[in-house]
Amino acid sequence: MIAETNLSAKSQQLIDLEDKHGAHNYHPLPVVLERGQGVHVWDVDGKQYYDFLSAYSAVNQGHSHPKITQTLIEQSQKLALTSRAFHNNILGEYEKFLTGLFGYDKVLPMNTGAEGVETAVKLARKWGYEKKGVAENTAKVIVCEGNFHGRTISIVSASTDPDARKNFGPYTPGYVTIPYNNTEALAEALKDPSVVGFLVEPIQGEAGVYVPEAGYLKTASAMCKAANVLFIADEIQTGIARTGKMLACDHEGVKPDMLILGKALSGGMYPVSAVLANDAVMMCIKPGQHGSTYGGNPLGCKIAMTALNVVLDEKLAENSEKLGELLRAELRAIQSDRISIVRGKGLLNAIVIKEKDGITAWEVCLKLAENGLLAKPTHGDIIRFAPPLVITREQILECAAIIKKTLESFH
Ligand SMILES: Cc1ncc(COP(=O)(O)O)c(C=O)c1O
Repeated sequence: MIAETNLSAKSQQLIDLEDKHGAHNYHPLPVVLERGQGVHVWDVDGKQYYDFLSAYSAVNQGHSHPKITQTLIEQSQKLALTSRAFHNNILGEYEKFLTGLFGYDKVLPMNTGAEGVETAVKLARKWGYEKKGVAENTAKVIVCEGNFHGRTISIVSASTDPDARKNFGPYTPGYVTIPYNNTEALAEALKDPSVVGFLVEPIQGEAGVYVPEAGYLKTASAMCKAANVLFIADEIQTGIARTGKMLACDHEGVKPDMLILGKALSGGMYPVSAVLANDAVMMCIKPGQHGSTYGGNPLGCKIAMTALNVVLDEKLAENSEKLGELLRAELRAIQSDRISIVRGKGLLNAIVIKEKDGITAWEVCLKLAENGLLAKPTHGDIIRFAPPLVITREQILECAAIIKKTLESFH
C-alpha cells in the first residue's frame, strides 16, 4: 500500500463497497483501517501506521485505551440508555464531576459537536431575550471568518466556507461575521445591542490550525464582558489537553461564559458533547425546551468520566505541551523548500505545503502513508499533525524522521 493505483485487492474491494453504497461526502485517503492501539492503527493488509489525525482530535487518549474500553464494556452490560424521561444513577455523578473539573454551575449534555454548538447558540439567544432584554427574534451571534463549528443548517449558515454552505440555503439569520484574530472588528460588532454572543474557536482547527496572536482571547473575552455579550468558546477540537493545557483558553487564563466540549471528551469511544455555563445562562432553559434522546445517557457519561480521568492521570496536557514543542522544532529543522510554514500549539500542528512540480499536500499525505504515517490535507495546501497525546518522545522523533524522509523523497 499505498499509491492510489497500488492498492491491495482487499483494500480496493472495501473502498469500492463504500463508494457504491455510501454517500460521497468525504474524500478519504486510500487506506482501509481495521485496528487501532494507542498511537498506531493497522490497515486490512496488516500495515502499521502512526495516526497523526487522531480522528480530528477525538482520540487524544489513544486508540482503544484499556480503561475506556473496559468502562464501555462494563457500563453497556449494565445500562446504556434510559432517555431523559427518567433519571439514571450515573448522570448526576458525571455532571458533578464535569462542572467541578471545569468550574461551572451546570452542564447540558449532548452527543455530537454540532449539537453542542447548536445548544450554545440556542442558550445564548434565550439568555439574550430573557436576561439581556433583546427584542424578540432579533438576537445576533458574532462568528469568525474561516470558522468550523459543524454541519447543521444553522451552523453552516455561520460558515464562510463555500463547500460547507453552497446550495444549502436558505440560511439561518442572526449571525454577524468578522475576521478572526481581529479585536477592532470585534469592537465594532459589539456595538450592536442585539448581539448576545461571540462564538469562537481558540485556535481555528479545520481552517488549518490558525493560532491567534497571544492575548487575543483575553482581550476578546474582556470586551464581551464589557458589552454584556456571552463569550462562547468552541473547544471541541482544541479542548481536552490537545493544545498543551486542558483547555486552549487556559493558555490565557480565560474563562468562557459558555464552554463547548466534544470529541476527546469521550476519548473517541462514543459521541459525547457538553455545554457548560453558570446558572444565569443555563437556567434560561426549562423542561421541554431542549434535549436529545441520547444526551446524558449513562454509557456516554461513564465513558466521559473515564476518558477525562485518563487525561488527568496520564498528564496528557503536559505531554502535549512538551512534545508539541519538540515536534515543531523538528519540523522547523527540516530543510525543505516544500514547507512554507510550521505552526501550532501543543500537539495541534500544521505545515503549509508549497505546491511544486504538481506535488500538492495530497501527494505528500499519500507518501507519508506509504512511509507509515497518516495525516490528512485540509484546504488544499495544509497538513495537520495531531497525534494521540499518549505519544512518546521517541515516537515523535521517529515521526519527524518519517516526515523529513517523505519531503526529501520529492527532491
Ligand atoms: C471546532 C469544532 N467545532 C465543532 C465540530 C463539529 O463536531 P462534530 O463533527 O462532532 O459534529 C468540529 C469538528 O471537527 C470542530 O472541530
